[in-house]
Amino acid sequence: MTPRIYTEEEIAKIRASALLVGDTLAEVAKMIAPGVKTIELDRMAEAFIRSKGGVPACKGYEGFPFTLCVSVNHMVVHGFPSEDELREGDIVSVDCVIEKDGYHGDSAYTFAVGHIEEPVRQLLEATKASLYKGIEQARAGNRTGDIGNAVQTYVEERGYGVVRELCGHGVGAHMHEKPDVLNYGKRGSGCLLKKGMVIAIEPMITLGKRSIGIAKDGWGVFTLDGKAAAHFEHSVAITADGCDILSSFANVENVLKNK
Ligand code: MF3
Ligand code: CO
Repeated sequence: MTPRIYTEEEIAKIRASALLVGDTLAEVAKMIAPGVKTIELDRMAEAFIRSKGGVPACKGYEGFPFTLCVSVNHMVVHGFPSEDELREGDIVSVDCVIEKDGYHGDSAYTFAVGHIEEPVRQLLEATKASLYKGIEQARAGNRTGDIGNAVQTYVEERGYGVVRELCGHGVGAHMHEKPDVLNYGKRGSGCLLKKGMVIAIEPMITLGKRSIGIAKDGWGVFTLDGKAAAHFEHSVAITADGCDILSSFANVENVLKNK
């Protein structure tokens, strides 16, 4: 399968879904606090998404049972929301995919619960910065390896690990499409990017070693050394002269700023 090329009309629909993910994550941001059960975030998110005419696309995807992937501390991605309460000092990655009008938007953000330790705060900052380093390489004529190399270089220079078992992906008519967008690799390798391709870039970065295990539920991905991991994700469209970030952290960060 070659990566799909989307029209402007289709990209507008992917953007609408991606922005609704941003709105959902902003609602999640309002709720993040010690004592909140992560299942409460999931219930709110599902109701919010449906109230806006969206469909929570993760729910039922290959049997995933929830609207949100909620991954606390050493969980990297694909954590199940649960009755467990968030605690001061935790970090929590929240990943959400919405389908609306036939098109998917995908975005994720890692939140601090109250005050977090400085090395963990720096991990969040570096992971988010690495996402934008990858996005800088997302342009027609570059290859997916240019994105992966930029992410990898940025985080490894700072002593962090790149989780290699999972990657970003094309997104649009389906949640997961070609190409794979690895978070590591060689410049000039991988799939050639063309105008109209839409990809989700999503570095998963560890404070310690990059080795991971899979939880007994078959989904949760966690660091084997038990150290924290962070995950930030945007959906971006490749344009003639660069890319267009279709999702947005603006609403999330506006909530966080005023907390
Ligand atoms: N948002 C995830 C991704 O970035 C997908 C979650 S997997 C699911 O690819 F099965 F839960 F949907
Ligand atoms: Co994704």
